[in-house]
Amino acid sequence: MSIPLITLAPTFKIARLVHGHWRLKDWHLTTTQLHALTSNCLELGIDTIDHADIYGNYECEALFGSVLKLDKGLRAKLKLITKCGIKLLSDKYPNRQLKYYDYSSEHLINSVNQSLKNFNTDYIDCLLLHRPSPYFNPETIAKTFNTLKKAGKVLHFGVSNFTPQQFELLAKFIDEPLVTNQIELSPLALQHFKDGTIEHLIQHQIKPMAWSPMAGGRLFKPQNELEQKLNAVLTHIANNLSIGIDTLAYAWLLQHPAQIIPVIGTQNLNRIKAAIKAFDVELSLEQWFQIYTATGTKLP
Ligand SMILES: NC(=O)c1ccc[n+]([C@@H]2O[C@H](COP(=O)([O-])OP(=O)(O)OC[C@H]3O[C@@H](n4cnc5c(N)ncnc54)[C@H](OP(=O)(O)O)[C@@H]3O)[C@@H](O)[C@H]2O)c1
Repeated sequence: MSIPLITLAPTFKIARLVHGHWRLKDWHLTTTQLHALTSNCLELGIDTIDHADIYGNYECEALFGSVLKLDKGLRAKLKLITKCGIKLLSDKYPNRQLKYYDYSSEHLINSVNQSLKNFNTDYIDCLLLHRPSPYFNPETIAKTFNTLKKAGKVLHFGVSNFTPQQFELLAKFIDEPLVTNQIELSPLALQHFKDGTIEHLIQHQIKPMAWSPMAGGRLFKPQNELEQKLNAVLTHIANNLSIGIDTLAYAWLLQHPAQIIPVIGTQNLNRIKAAIKAFDVELSLEQWFQIYTATGTKLP
């Protein structure tokens, strides 16, 4: 049971499973417990953590920063991804009237500086623009990326939730290729298999990261008829293969030719191990399509 590495850029290789910290505040872990979880992930081969400035009402980065402060040797063993660009309505920003997106140079630089402070580090391995914005100046972003890169504050850049067109627009202006597009992908989130996003990433050999790979837990606790149908299909195939439906759903993503990198959202070590087990599973193409069509997708 081992996790292969995947190359996102010549100087940026990561394990093919990333640990996501969106729900970190809800985990209610002490710094010592979070340190133990991170060390366990590292021992299992997971070397990359996914954050965003806004996670946990702007608090998750600092929670993880306490771990990096506690164990000074840890930072060099890990790759940190964080995101920026969304301005949330929050008690932390009492003057803000609404949620909006800000990709101005000033906001990006301030956001990265704050992330560095929160993490107790002096560099971010990969900065993602969290969501595309209707108010977007790729030239400004390119200049800002250069400034951040030259200062050594950010090593690599990528995007999240971008359409192929939005991705290409930005790619045209920046000096270095974007290393990923982090998108929602799971047996309950098929839209990017259908809207050209996956094809675009394959075409440019950009490896996608899959957020909410277990559909936020809805694979296990179906909330409507379609989800129940999917759960039944997953359960049937998983039983035939003598694996759990989590392992099956990870294998379904991993086996796709786009070289998808799931961003795991569980804090449970056994469930993280179940994800790693997926590298040993081989689905038949028929099984892959049974899952793809389980929620009603019709093939012409
Ligand atoms: N770029 C974006 O816009 C974006 C958006 C959303 C998320 N993300 C990233 O993607 C990461 C993962 O998203 P996610 O947290 O929604 O992932 P997820 O794995 O789809 O969902 C995690 C939830 O499912 C539960 N779960 C996971 N495995 C389970 C299992 N085997 N059995 C039962 N329950 C299970 C977890 O509970 P337990 O913890 O109790 O196992 C947790 O509540 C986030 O942490 C974040 O880094 C990015």
